[in-house]
Order: sequence, then structure tokens, then C-alpha cells
Amino acid sequence: MADLASIEYRLAARPVGMPNDSHFARAIGSAPEPGPGKVRVRNLWLSVDPYMRGRMVDRESYVPPFEVGAVLEGGAVGEVVDSGDENFAPGDLVMSILGWREAFTASAKVLQKLPKGMVPPQAFLGVAGMPGMTAYFGLLKIGALRNGETVFVSAGAGAVGSIVAQIAKIKECKVIATAGSDDKCDFLRSIGVDHAINYKAFSDSRGLEKALRAAAPGGIDVYFENVGGMHLEAAIGAMRPFGRIAVCGMIAGYNATSAEPGPNNLVMMIPKRLRIEGFIVTDHMAEAPAFLADMTQWIGAGKITVKETVLDGIDQTPAAFLSLFSGDNTGKMLVRL
Ligand SMILES: NC(=O)c1ccc[n+]([C@@H]2O[C@H](COP(=O)([O-])OP(=O)(O)OC[C@H]3O[C@@H](n4cnc5c(N)ncnc54)[C@H](OP(=O)(O)O)[C@@H]3O)[C@@H](O)[C@H]2O)c1
Repeated sequence: MADLASIEYRLAARPVGMPNDSHFARAIGSAPEPGPGKVRVRNLWLSVDPYMRGRMVDRESYVPPFEVGAVLEGGAVGEVVDSGDENFAPGDLVMSILGWREAFTASAKVLQKLPKGMVPPQAFLGVAGMPGMTAYFGLLKIGALRNGETVFVSAGAGAVGSIVAQIAKIKECKVIATAGSDDKCDFLRSIGVDHAINYKAFSDSRGLEKALRAAAPGGIDVYFENVGGMHLEAAIGAMRPFGRIAVCGMIAGYNATSAEPGPNNLVMMIPKRLRIEGFIVTDHMAEAPAFLADMTQWIGAGKITVKETVLDGIDQTPAAFLSLFSGDNTGKMLVRL
């Protein structure tokens, strides 16, 4: 079979501040016939995630930066077209990090075969994949959540946040969540959130802290941090003694061009005996089977509502990525090819 042409997106330049279309370059690549040990895959679903913004910066981190001129990478679910490896056959569903392109040929070693029929394939990029796992380990292990506690999650209507909120409800917790629009707050109420707060109503942390204190007069036990900035300051003010803050992300600062000021009430960690701990989901992969067992059981029992925002076509990938920073997604942001 001849080479397969594949539209792909490359990093055209490193963004400073908010990225835009000029930072992405469309190109035509190709997926050649697979030799021994290689597999040719046509992508079906692409994931865009906030961490990709960090990889556009040339700095040391837990993942290497993207190279200017190289194809971007990201989670993808695809179908095997043809295979030179005995473990993969045409029609198999596979996950890879070779997103931002329509098709590719790669070593079988970089592919993970997906079970069919357990959940829809794209769920492995969301609720049953990295974002779901982030919510699960961040809340239960880092947040050390106990049944019946009071939980606050920011970016509550997003991929990670909406799962955090629902796991906390499964654990019989009172849940407070923030989001950036009234429609998102309605969505949060529809998935059981007790207090949904549109943070755009507040210009600084004091207003948000007041709203948190009204929602949780006894204080917050666990804050699942996705946003940073005024959210963290407000949460510290509203935490209960011995509260835990699981720092998952700080998206409010990802496009900042200068260092953001830290929370001005950090000293309150002392009298409140707070624990603040950052985490990276990949550190918890050894426990992925326990996560998948719980999550598929919860989805099957109707305890988790799966929400996705889907754009169609490879050429929508940059727009899908940029929408994470304008808040145009509710639930997991995906591109369907
Ligand atoms: N530590 C880890 O291993 C790990 C793994 C996955 C994700 N994360 C982090 O988890 C967080 C959520 O990721 P996700 O994939 O679930 O994304 P997401 O929440 O589905 O999408 C991002 C959301 O962030 C909100 N947002 C964007 N800019 C904001 C700002 N300036 N202030 C307040 N809110 C803002 C928007 O919602 P609104 O409309 O509500 O503003 C947007 O929809 C991110 O911080 C990400 O980096 C960490």
C-alpha cells in the first residue's frame, strides 16, 4: 500500500502570552507502509490539554518542550490500518501521544491497545484516561478525601474538574465548584454540585472568599486547585484547620508574561495547619487498574455524567486548544477526525 498523506500541525513559533493561530503551522506529512515491528494508525480522536501550553516554552520540566518546526504531540485514539507487528491487527483501537496529525506509522512499542466496548473510545482521552485519573488520584490520594467532607474545585466544569466534583459526590461530600459562566454553573448543578459559583462575578479574592465562606460556613476540607491566582488566595482564606490543597494546575497563569504574585495570605497555613501538595498524574500510573475499575463501575451505574465538547476535523485542533484558555469547553475538549 502507498504512503498515506496526513495533515499535521507543527509548532511554528514559541508563544509569549496568549497563543494564537500564528503559532501553529499546517503541513502535509505521510504515514508509510509499516515495516517489521511498526504499525500504521489513522487517528479518530485527538485530545487537547492545558499542559501542552507548558511544552511550548523552552524550559526544563517533567516533559521535554516541543521543538519549533516539529509536529505537536498529544493524546490520540486511532484505528490500526495495517501492521508489521504480531500484537496489532487492522481494526484494533490504540492510544498514543501522536496526536495533532491524521495518521502515522510508529513502533508498536509506543502504542497501547484499547479494550473495545468498555466505554466509547474517546473516553480514554477523558473520563477513563488521563484527566479522569488526575481527578481520581488528586482528590483521593493527594487530597486524602474522607466521606462527608466539604470539597471545593476550581475550573469545575472542565475535564478534570467535572470528574473531581462527581467523585466527591459519590463520596457523599458537599461540593462547591467555580466556573466562568452561568451556563457552566447550570451544568455543575445538573451533575450534583451543591454550590456553583461564577468566579467572573468577582474582581479579586475577597469577593470569592466571601462566597466560599457563605457556601461552606464550617470551612473547606479539600481544595482541588486547577486555576491559581485569586482562587488559591480565596481558598486559603476559606479552608478549615487541617485542610488539604491538592495542586493540580494553575491555568490562570499559563499565559502570563511576568511572574504572578503569590497568595498574600500564605501565612494562614500555620494557624490552620494546612497541607499544600502538587502532583503529576503520571506518578500514579501503577495504580491505573484500580482507577479504571472504579471509574467504569461508576459510569456503568450512572454515577458519573460524561461531558465532552467536540470540534470536527484536524483543522480545528489549534482552535480546540485555544478554547481551553477562553473557557469555550465544557467537560473534555476533543477533536473528532
Ligand atoms: N497535575 C497533573 O497531572 C494534571 C493533569 C491534567 C490536568 N492538569 C491541570 O488541570 C487543570 C484542568 O485541566 P483540564 O484538562 O481539565 O482543562 P479544562 O478544565 O477542561 O479546561 C480549562 C478550563 O480552565 C478554565 N480557565 C482557563 N483560563 C482561566 C483563567 N484565567 N482563570 C480561571 N479559569 C480559567 C476555563 O474554564 P472557565 O470557563 O471555568 O474559566 C477552561 O474551560 C489545568 O490547570 C491543567 O493544567 C494537571
